[in-house]
Amino acid sequence: MTARPLLLIGAGGLAREVIAAVRLLPDVWNPVGALDDSTALHGTLIDGVPVLGGLDSLDDHPDAAVVACVANARRPLSRLSLVSRLGLPDERWATVVHPAAVTSGARLGAGTVLLAGVVITTSLEVGRHVVAMPHVLITHDDEVSDGVTFAGRASLGGGVVVGESAYLGQGALVREGVKIGAGAVVGMGAVVLRDVPAGQTWAGVPARPLRGESA
Ligand SMILES: CC(C)(COP(=O)(O)OP(=O)(O)OC[C@H]1O[C@@H](n2cnc3c(N)ncnc32)[C@H](O)[C@@H]1OP(=O)(O)O)[C@@H](O)C(=O)NCCC(=O)NCCS
Repeated sequence: MTARPLLLIGAGGLAREVIAAVRLLPDVWNPVGALDDSTALHGTLIDGVPVLGGLDSLDDHPDAAVVACVANARRPLSRLSLVSRLGLPDERWATVVHPAAVTSGARLGAGTVLLAGVVITTSLEVGRHVVAMPHVLITHDDEVSDGVTFAGRASLGGGVVVGESAYLGQGALVREGVKIGAGAVVGMGAVVLRDVPAGQTWAGVPARPLRGESA
């Protein structure tokens, strides 16, 4: 099999983690470069992969698959904004699954990234451009919308619904059946027992609104 050239969008820590994952799949992916609008990075290497230029140079690489390596708890909508700015068809987006992830036949949307040790326990559906960092747990009947970010060790009980572009911090635990609204942020270490409204930031044990928002 000929490895498909892969361009990373973003040249930060997540991009380096994706590079490490795809290097374990040399027959599938060939990471040829990263694009980042930070001009200071242009011409540098990230873990041996060249930063080729800004996002406006994407058209110079029409044959490469693309993966958005952007995730930020303070800007949970940023990855899907980037995706819509680039306007690529789904077939250009790479779905990257670390060989040590367990997917149980789940259907993964275009552009989704699962890093080492992610476990999905049944054949559910995961949206497009989802990022699950190491050791994330997604269980039976969960619904994961487009653009969701799970930091490492975030865990969902069964039947949890996670709305578009929500961000779950490291080690967050979500009780079965709870809904996390679109664009909501759940702080690291939170234990979420109740629905989190869209756009709010909740943290703590048990999780409560962080900024005095009404629950
Ligand atoms: C929830 C979060 C987004 C808030 O970030 P922030 O808006 O910058 O908030 P601040 O750090 O200014 O903290 C605001 C208050 O919330 C508290 N707080 C922040 N995060 C908290 C958390 N996870 N649990 C409990 N309290 C928290 C702070 O102690 C502070 O309280 P104070 O006002 O009484 O001093 C952030 O702390 C977080 O958990 N991010 C996820 C980090 C993560 O998982 N990263 C993975 C990277 S790979």
